[in-house]
Amino acid sequence: MIGRLNHVAIAVPDLEAAAAQYRDTLGAKVNPPQDEPDHGVTVAFIELPNTKVELLHPLGDGSPIQGFLDKNPSGGIHHICYEVEDILAARDQLMESGARVLGSGEPKIGAHGKPVLFLHPKDFTGTLVELEQV
Ligand code: CO
Repeated sequence: MIGRLNHVAIAVPDLEAAAAQYRDTLGAKVNPPQDEPDHGVTVAFIELPNTKVELLHPLGDGSPIQGFLDKNPSGGIHHICYEVEDILAARDQLMESGARVLGSGEPKIGAHGKPVLFLHPKDFTGTLVELEQV
C-alpha cells in the first residue's frame, strides 16, 4: 500500500537556526519558510536527492506540535510521511485492520497541496505516520 518516503518531519524550537544548520553545516538546499495556518505550523522544506525533510515550528496558539516541543525542548523527529496512490482506499483498509486515523478521518490538504491523513502513533510502533496521496 505505501510507496515512497515523501518526507521526515522534525519539530524545531528555532526554525532559523535549524534552517541555517541544514544549509550551512550540512550543505542542503533549504527553501524559505512557509506559514501553514490551517495546520498551526511554519514549515521549511529541505530538498534531498531522494526525499525531503520538513522543519516544523509552531504557528499561533494551540499548534499541534507545541506539546511535542514542550516534551522535547531541543526538538526531534515528529512524523514520517509515506506516499499512497489512493488515500481513501488506504484509510478504509487501515481502519478495517483496526488502525486509528487522527481527527475526523477525512483527509486535509497538506503542506504540499495534496490530501493527507495522520495515523495514531500507538498503532505504528510509536511513530506518527502521515499518508499523502500523490
Ligand atoms: Co508532514
